[in-house]
Amino acid sequence: MAVNSAVHSNECGLPLNAIEWLETHHNSKAVEREQMIRDLDLPKGCMVVDAGCGPGLWTPLLARAIGPYGRILGVDVSPEALVTAQQRSKNKWYHHQVQYKQGILEQLPLGRGKADIIFSANVSQYLTDPVGTFAAMGPYLMQGGRIIIKDIDFGTMRFSNIDPALQARVFQARERWERERVERGYSFEDSWIGSKLATYLRQAGYEQVQETTYKIIRRHPLPYDFRQYLQGIAEWFVCEGAPYLSGEDVRQWLSCFLDETHMVLDQETFISEETEFVVTGVWSAPPTSNNYWFTAYEQLPKYTEPLSLTSCH
Ligand SMILES: C[S@@+](CC[C@H](N)C(=O)[O-])C[C@H]1O[C@@H](n2cnc3c(N)ncnc32)[C@H](O)[C@@H]1O
Repeated sequence: MAVNSAVHSNECGLPLNAIEWLETHHNSKAVEREQMIRDLDLPKGCMVVDAGCGPGLWTPLLARAIGPYGRILGVDVSPEALVTAQQRSKNKWYHHQVQYKQGILEQLPLGRGKADIIFSANVSQYLTDPVGTFAAMGPYLMQGGRIIIKDIDFGTMRFSNIDPALQARVFQARERWERERVERGYSFEDSWIGSKLATYLRQAGYEQVQETTYKIIRRHPLPYDFRQYLQGIAEWFVCEGAPYLSGEDVRQWLSCFLDETHMVLDQETFISEETEFVVTGVWSAPPTSNNYWFTAYEQLPKYTEPLSLTSCH
């Protein structure tokens, strides 16, 4: 699926047709994502908020980790994502453990100090003020609770069999465009955020911040989902007119991934490398903390959009 042909896009980076894309992305990295959750060693029976849960792809992984007495609250700003999440969980072994609610990260739909864990995957890249948002999420954790932020960093992406100079031009052009595209009416994105997350969590007031990296390496012959993922990513890098790339670079780049005669994905020596980041931090402030961010977000108007998705039971 071409990611740059969105049917409709909400303001937080979820085009309607991206649900299919998120599934492709998730499945293509399933082995590493399962490992990420195992490595977190989540306590059995705990209460996890999946902040920015999207279509609920992480729900079964989280449910398995926390066991049958654990509870998951999936929160997302997008009703389309929540409807899909709810449909996915229907009649599944974990459906009694999960509830989906509409809300924003900065004002989660639960009481202060109620969550043992806040987990958020592939969302921080859309936050205009990640430090402010992470700080606002802290008071929803119980004292000593853990935040877990997982995200990509396209500064780590490398492909064999593609001219390194062309790759560098494509990546630099996209990075530059991401710094400027908001001024041209597009929503914010930082696809280079992974390696910045540890600093952001410390700045937001979290303690014992720990970063774990996961190298995602795939070689020829590529699994079907990963091939789809790479083709989608290749198109995405040059979407929105790729203003800082020459037409010839765009043509050459796309031909490496999509054109049968120049396709690198089918070459026996092809290797794709990318690193994803999982960063955790502990919230030590008491739940009633009167810190700056808590006060600032308390003063925001309450997000009261009614939605009939308060429970998936
Ligand atoms: C790329 S998707 C990731 C979904 C899911 N976590 C996953 O990894 O498959 C990003 C999701 O974050 C949601 N989102 C972005 N900003 C948000 C915010 N401030 N509050 C709540 N949800 C947000 C979007 O609606 C979208 O569903």
